[in-house]
Amino acid sequence: HLSLQSNNASSSSSPRAPTKQSFFIGVAGGTASGKTTVCNLIISQLRDQRVVLVNQDSFYHSLNEEKLKTVHEYNFDHPESFDTELLLSCMEKLKLGQAVSIPNYDFKTHQSIEPARQVNPSDIIILEGILVLHDPRVRDLMNMKIFVDTDSDVRLSRRIQRDTVERGRNIQNVLEQYTKFVKPSFDEFILPSKKYADIIIPRGGDNDVAIDLIVQHIHTKLGQHDLCKIYPNLFLIFSTFQI
Ligand code: CTP
Repeated sequence: HLSLQSNNASSSSSPRAPTKQSFFIGVAGGTASGKTTVCNLIISQLRDQRVVLVNQDSFYHSLNEEKLKTVHEYNFDHPESFDTELLLSCMEKLKLGQAVSIPNYDFKTHQSIEPARQVNPSDIIILEGILVLHDPRVRDLMNMKIFVDTDSDVRLSRRIQRDTVERGRNIQNVLEQYTKFVKPSFDEFILPSKKYADIIIPRGGDNDVAIDLIVQHIHTKLGQHDLCKIYPNLFLIFSTFQI
């Protein structure tokens, strides 16, 4: 049964074509779960689109002298260690097509350093980080929410490797930080945010099938978007007649 119903399209209530917003993807998951690998695989398959990758790490609060003295007591895995207000305002602007300036965080000094990164608006924005699904206001901006699910033993071994090689830490401190802060915060804040994900990727960057499905979905969504861009009247026709 097909029924066509004409809306009363008076000038004040007539539908308008939507303003174009970026497609916003959030990629969360525990430390060293392979979030960056997943993002890079998605980006490499989206060759025809403009994509920008933003890291939640960029929004860490800088530590002052006082806090630097007791850095081993600082919980970098707690939601309050991030400047979420700044992150939210940057993501809102990017989504609406405005350029933003994103801080440049240095893991060795625990501070933001100059110069900040200038980011131009894009068709697709990907925000990656341990707690990107934690704040409801940030979640609400997202068109697609992904959680990268990797076994904790795999993550810990990668973390030891990465922190000692790339972040200038010693193994003793890495293990202490993991037991004291990283693991408890994972259980308290990161794991509970998994329920908000639309897609959960087991085995992170090793899961080619999941990456293919995600990229197909993005193409489908952007295809619909582009149709409305090329044929703006299509949107008006679809909105005027409810089928
Ligand atoms: N962190 C730290 N020192 C800082 C700031 C953050 O040790 N000054 C740690 C936090 O403990 C947190 C981690 O950095 O657990 C967040 O980065 P992570 O998600 O591990 O990095 P990615 O490279 O994004 O991870 P992935 O391998 O999933 O791509």
